[in-house]
Amino acid sequence: MNASRIKELLGEIASRREEYRRSGFGDASASSTHLVDELAVVECAGLTARRARFDGEAGIERDPVVLSRGEGAFLWDADGLPYVDMGACFAVAAYGHANPEIVGALTEQAQRLMHGMGDVYPTDTKVSFLKALAAYAPGNLSGALLSQSGAEAVETAMKMAQMATGKNRFIAFESSYHGLSYGALSVTGHQNRFKEPFAGRICQQTTFVPYANCLRCAFGCEPDTCGFACIRYIERMLELPSGGAGDVAAIIAEPIQGRGGDVVPPKGWLKALRELCTRRNILLILDEIYTGFGRTGYRFACERDDVVPDIMCLGKAMTGGFPLSAAIATPEVLSGWPLNTTEAIHTSTFLGNPMGCAVGLKALEILERDDLVGQSRQKGDWIQEQFRRIQAKYPRYIAQVRGSGLMQALEMADQTLNPLTDLAIRIVDEMRSRGFILLPSGPWSHVISIAPPLMIPMECLEAFIRELDAGIACCIAESE
Ligand SMILES: Cc1ncc(COP(=O)(O)O)c(C=O)c1O
Repeated sequence: MNASRIKELLGEIASRREEYRRSGFGDASASSTHLVDELAVVECAGLTARRARFDGEAGIERDPVVLSRGEGAFLWDADGLPYVDMGACFAVAAYGHANPEIVGALTEQAQRLMHGMGDVYPTDTKVSFLKALAAYAPGNLSGALLSQSGAEAVETAMKMAQMATGKNRFIAFESSYHGLSYGALSVTGHQNRFKEPFAGRICQQTTFVPYANCLRCAFGCEPDTCGFACIRYIERMLELPSGGAGDVAAIIAEPIQGRGGDVVPPKGWLKALRELCTRRNILLILDEIYTGFGRTGYRFACERDDVVPDIMCLGKAMTGGFPLSAAIATPEVLSGWPLNTTEAIHTSTFLGNPMGCAVGLKALEILERDDLVGQSRQKGDWIQEQFRRIQAKYPRYIAQVRGSGLMQALEMADQTLNPLTDLAIRIVDEMRSRGFILLPSGPWSHVISIAPPLMIPMECLEAFIRELDAGIACCIAESE
């Protein structure tokens, strides 16, 4: 998209404020409203329609935005209103919506072969993609098993760890998010309500430990002088005769927690975790589904600490929109997987779908050619500087600015760290009314998070910061 079109769209967004305000709950003239009414009938209403219409605690009544079209960093709703996508639709659309090169790769593959035979008769495109992925992945992570969703990649990684070690137990982190299928839920620490209705069927073979969240340190330590008390705590646990290293297959961690509130561990923490796993002879699984492929200003967030896990989970930006995920592991881990003599121990109908592989191949080419990792770092540094400037104006409301690359956040909390959930949700809603789509994160939905497409033009980021500055001022004035 050229500069004049971007300017024109940002101008349109600025001039349609009244329409954004009207696009709220129950506007009978809006297509979105009709579509949400229809959705409440044909989809479980609790999933989208009922849930999004009322954001309980903050008392906001809103219909969800019904998305209809995308181009670059812009989205349009069913009523034709444009938005800037500040979340890349769950950190997926890294290369921009409807990226013509990606659409081209998808179309070419669809015309040639839309579906293959997974583990039985693979496709040539799967071979090319897996070779490119192994070359892009850090260290000796070289053999991958593909799947469709992030949760499946996590479950595949768990199976890999069990196969390689013969052990069943996992250590996972409080506030972690690894997906919501049964296996993935068993290692997800974020929000108990995801688990409560299904608790009776969720495997209990997981020990949850505090994450390296220095703002809210579970051990009451001060950053820089703590000597990683949180790592020592895990080490002591691993020394136990029951539930210790003899039972634990792997530790599973996000190198930066995403849905848990964009929590960035201090430098050195991941390295200490890696060393602990090596010392105790257990595997390290890093879930880079959110953080992978340039999101944090590194190819993978583990590079921040120069760490290579034994298994890495990937998804989201791996294709930028086609449902494809992977668990990629070292040859040592994969040697635990027996040769198939009859049926494959693990497979699925769409395993390694060639359209996903074609798109993934193109995405890797774009990432490298356009230096999206470098772009993510530079734009992220600029955003963080702007967030700090805003924080300095409102120290009573913004407890921390944090992030890496184009994964940045403002933690809304008062000076005693009470989460300001209502304020965070009001600001997110206010930004929607100004044409910018973003989401809250964190255990109390009190963190304002952004994860825009990596190719987002600076003009969009500048417009976002202007509106955020004004939007926060409005919401704080209303709450005082
Ligand atoms: C770190 C991480 N792991 C796993 C998942 C689950 O991925 P999916 O929703 O594709 O199952 C997510 C989704 O947000 C995630 O952020």
